Amino acid sequence: MSPGITVNQNIAEMEYAVRGPIPQRAAELRRQGKRTIPCNIGNPQGLGQQPISYYRQVLSLLEAPSKIARERRLNKLRSSAPAAFAGLAADDFVSDYILDLCDEMLAKFETGLGAYTESKGPLFIREAIARFIDTREDAESSGAPRSDPEHIFLTNGASEAGKNLVDLLIADRRDGLMIPTPQYPLYSAAIRRAGGCQVNYYLDEDSGWTLNRSMLEEALAAATRDGVAVKAIVVINPGNPTGAVLPKESIREVVDFAGQHGLAIIADEVYQDNTYGATFVSFAQTVGSQDVPLFSLHSTSKGFCGECGRRGGYVEVRNPPAVTNTSLSFMDLLLKQASVSLCSNTIGQALTYLMVCPPAPDSAPHKQFVEEKKQVLEDLYNKAALIRAAFAEMNGVECFGRTGAMYLFPRLNRLPAGTTDFDYCMSLLEAVGLCTVNGSGFGQRAGTNHLRVAFLPSRELLEEVLPRWVEFHNAYVNRKQ
Ligand SMILES: Cc1ncc(COP(=O)(O)O)c(C=O)c1O
Repeated sequence: MSPGITVNQNIAEMEYAVRGPIPQRAAELRRQGKRTIPCNIGNPQGLGQQPISYYRQVLSLLEAPSKIARERRLNKLRSSAPAAFAGLAADDFVSDYILDLCDEMLAKFETGLGAYTESKGPLFIREAIARFIDTREDAESSGAPRSDPEHIFLTNGASEAGKNLVDLLIADRRDGLMIPTPQYPLYSAAIRRAGGCQVNYYLDEDSGWTLNRSMLEEALAAATRDGVAVKAIVVINPGNPTGAVLPKESIREVVDFAGQHGLAIIADEVYQDNTYGATFVSFAQTVGSQDVPLFSLHSTSKGFCGECGRRGGYVEVRNPPAVTNTSLSFMDLLLKQASVSLCSNTIGQALTYLMVCPPAPDSAPHKQFVEEKKQVLEDLYNKAALIRAAFAEMNGVECFGRTGAMYLFPRLNRLPAGTTDFDYCMSLLEAVGLCTVNGSGFGQRAGTNHLRVAFLPSRELLEEVLPRWVEFHNAYVNRKQ
């Protein structure tokens, strides 16, 4: 018999509720042939959201370049003999704009999508990201510092960027990162894995899950008293699980706080398109020309793109911190980390390019692109409103803040004595088939209970399931103790 091996205790202790016991039970129920609705995760296409046609048309041709010439031949034939194609619609053909774009992208990729790229990702994509950021910040007229393509790394989703940063920043078991409570558990898991300290700062539920300076100071002071060396603060905006879209003042407070205490900022901005009418204020804009280290993360998984399985994303670095214990710079170290995995996946890279380069306003695919984008975002908002309306019929349920990201995070004020939000979510799954995540999986103030639900199922499915949830809820909270 093998003598057995010792494994990394940090990995053994890592927790990630989004794929925890409740989703695991849901998988078991599905294997038994029961229907479950996976609202535990922000995976839009997993719940039927249709991909944006523009993205898929380009990606499919990049994967099968020989078809580009074929599509061109078809377009030529069609214009010379339209009658021969009478049974086909215009969108059965690929526009020359898309064909040209594919040729151009393949030429810039140089070695196709099957080859490794530069570790940071191809320069043309990093340049496009830098232009996208400059346009978003209106750098031209505001005079804000320009984004530097050399300070951008393409990553396998934002998760990889988050994990790499945490790995790099935690140099000692007394090193800590401030993370919001509640938070998306990528950060708590990455800190646990790196063997550092998690320093919680609380978001203010009653004021719509925003944050304020005194809460940040309190958390930092407590950590310092405990001997923790705090290196950075993580902010998720728009928030997961809270959905909060932070106002400019909150972001300014974080930047001032970080500047004053010499902390880096990790700004997880993957939901920057999921604001539903609110204004997204980036950390890059607020940092401006101040010398505060900033890492901003973006992804192709969210927004209206929703291509979670493509694993596209990037991190942009501003004001990289000085490094004291090696002659390598912070950027050298990030490059070293990226180099160990050789490069991020090329389809994710290509999709990231498309995310930052929507079709030109006068181009053939523009109209359909804009319509599909609008539809996805409108549907998301309307589905959130449907769920909020159901909360109003549930005894003791309050949902604070405006709608943002892809989640609602209501407070369950009336759970029967001795039960927790975990028990509630498990029972909800068993009774209704709805898979949600208990608030304790994200962290929450002691004595409160919540759940997170992704507002992603189709309207029809919600209309069917929500009345059953309301019924379940009111029976659950009113049951005899
Ligand atoms: C706040 C936040 N950051 C990062 C991620 C991970 O995104 P990606 O799919 O790009 O790794 C998620 C996924 O839900 C998220 O909610």
